[in-house]
Amino acid sequence: MPSTMEDVLTHEAKANGVEKLMSNGINHLQVQDTYILPPSERPRLSEVSYSESIPVVDLQDLDGPNRTRVVQEICLACEEDGFFQILNHGVPEATMKSMMGIAKEFFEMPVEDRACLYSEDTNQRVRLSTSFNISKEKVLNWRDYLLHPCHPLEEFIGSWPEKPAAYREIAGNYAAEMRALILRLMAAVSEALGLDSDYLNRIFGKHSQLMDIMYYPPCPNPDITLGTPRHSDARGITVLMQGNVSGLQVLRNGKWVAVEPIPNAFVVNMGDQLQVVSNGRFRSVEHRAVTNTSTARISIPTFYGPSEEAFIAPAESLVDEQHPALYKGFKFGEFMKIFWGQELKNKTVLDHFKIEYPENNGK
Ligand code: OGA
Ligand code: NI
Repeated sequence: MPSTMEDVLTHEAKANGVEKLMSNGINHLQVQDTYILPPSERPRLSEVSYSESIPVVDLQDLDGPNRTRVVQEICLACEEDGFFQILNHGVPEATMKSMMGIAKEFFEMPVEDRACLYSEDTNQRVRLSTSFNISKEKVLNWRDYLLHPCHPLEEFIGSWPEKPAAYREIAGNYAAEMRALILRLMAAVSEALGLDSDYLNRIFGKHSQLMDIMYYPPCPNPDITLGTPRHSDARGITVLMQGNVSGLQVLRNGKWVAVEPIPNAFVVNMGDQLQVVSNGRFRSVEHRAVTNTSTARISIPTFYGPSEEAFIAPAESLVDEQHPALYKGFKFGEFMKIFWGQELKNKTVLDHFKIEYPENNGK
């Protein structure tokens, strides 16, 4: 086994910042100091619940005569957990498998073959990076990620990775399937809020869709590291393919609950924009990903939401005397500027847009 960076990386590759990647064959062998969390932020794995879980919603009947029942189930899941898994979602198993396969190939090919995509600049739309935003973080996250926009597909597919050779075709196909699924979910979620089916579709403007391939190598000490720290998702709706290695945990009543993978299911959760539009009725629930000692984990969230210029505010019909507006309206681009300007932490971005009411102590 190579023991130093010099043995495996050419000078040229190092110039690209590849020595910082988790997936360079070296970094994950030992927990370097920069990955060790202070005691108060460690995951306390022995306290995680494996007996509870998030709801499972079968989408089989979503587009039939029993739509109302499915919409109600989605509504309940969004109100109580903010997270649910979906079955019979219509995305072919083969599409999911090929996407997971090509993602694995991407992170397993020689590091020199992905070095050209490395960037620490959060304005870089297509980028391979590590942690979340390493210029802002004191402690690094145990993961690499490949992030790229997916919509409109024709506009972005030409900037996606050229290697592995089948990447663009497979990821393009997956992105198109995900968009179709998410548009159906957006209609159902709009209805669940008592809004017209087209509501989210309309207010999201030109829409934005991102694919984020997370790579978590095995970690010698999962007790003192985190793959993804506690956070809520910034955009509208997230649909995650989490593969068959567990790691995702969701916060429920102050306690961490593990989301064990169900074969061929997706995990759906509401992002901060849905918390705003629903005026707090649907919450963007905090979650994290922990590491494990034995198996590399790949998870692929699709983040879907407004385009930069879209204006986001609590839906008018959800604001009344009993339910005063909890958030100011804003252009989605303003929100994302704050998001990318800091580290990934709790729900700190949403706080910037809260309306404080002295009489209810800023509820
Ligand atoms: C995220 C996220 C969880 C996971 O990227 O926002 O929550 O399982 N990922 O990788
Ligand atoms: Ni997330």
